[in-house]
Amino acid sequence: MIVTLNNGVRMPQLGLGVWRVEEGQQVKESVKTALEIGYRLIDTAAIYQNEAGVGEGMRESGVNREDIFLTTKVWNSDQGYDETLRAFDASLHKLGTDYVDLYLIHWPVPANDKYVDTYKALEKLYADGRVRAIGVSNFHIPHLERILQECSVKPTVNQVECHPRLAQNELREFCTRNEILLEAWSPLMQGGDILTNETIGAIAGRHGKTPAQTVIRWHLQKGNIVIPKSVTPSRIRENFDVFDFELAEEEMADINGLNQDKRVGPNPDEFNNA
Ligand SMILES: NC(=O)c1ccc[n+]([C@@H]2O[C@H](COP(=O)([O-])OP(=O)(O)OC[C@H]3O[C@@H](n4cnc5c(N)ncnc54)[C@H](OP(=O)(O)O)[C@@H]3O)[C@@H](O)[C@H]2O)c1
Repeated sequence: MIVTLNNGVRMPQLGLGVWRVEEGQQVKESVKTALEIGYRLIDTAAIYQNEAGVGEGMRESGVNREDIFLTTKVWNSDQGYDETLRAFDASLHKLGTDYVDLYLIHWPVPANDKYVDTYKALEKLYADGRVRAIGVSNFHIPHLERILQECSVKPTVNQVECHPRLAQNELREFCTRNEILLEAWSPLMQGGDILTNETIGAIAGRHGKTPAQTVIRWHLQKGNIVIPKSVTPSRIRENFDVFDFELAEEEMADINGLNQDKRVGPNPDEFNNA
């Protein structure tokens, strides 16, 4: 499944996340396995410290670079206009590619208050054709409002924690009104209790699917871009085998009912780690 960003660029709706995947062999093999299965979206970040292995996996897969949608992110300590341009060059060098499909600000880092300048560097990279799209991550509505007011290129994507326990309804509505797509991180709640939840289990059983596949399908039908992480080949395959069934409206409603606005990751308003 493909979504179209607000600048017309097409992006796969389901991809592989590689946070906490080791640099070297592990990330290279995960990326290669995913690309062989049919994934065409890979989500990394400078802070994951595995960009070199991601690049190697992409090249060794034999899939053409232009058929892969690659996302990376500028880390908090590299925020600021010049710093971001330098960080982007460093990421490109490690990835071994000459462009990135989507470049994101990883966190707003409210204590530094540099995200507007950082975003202006992303606009420069976009204007220079070095990235096909730009966006943000972990932005709440007030952070997005500032970007929309003070910058000229609309973010294409806001990548935030989202799963059935944190549905992000208010943020999704704001994003939809502003043509920003919501991309779900920790979509499986980091393998947490959502995968043993009774409601999810019952729905999964009805479709002959696993809880993880059911949760991924819920994301897709909500319109989320979704990037489950796995280093296990059978799970990488399982997580992509979600295009042959559909959740009924009542099943979607039952999963929507699990929302508790509960995070497994940090709250962006308080996350100022450098
Ligand atoms: N922008 C941000 O600030 C931010 C923050 C966090 C994450 N992210 C991105 O989002 C991606 C996904 O989030 P995440 O890695 O936090 O968590 P996740 O995808 O929700 O969960 C990953 C965990 O679930 C397990 N798993 C995967 N598939 C499974 C399956 N079919 N059945 C059972 N368990 C399964 C994985 O185990 P194995 O690997 O052992 O198989 C791993 O422990 C990240 O990799 C990263 O790219 C972005």
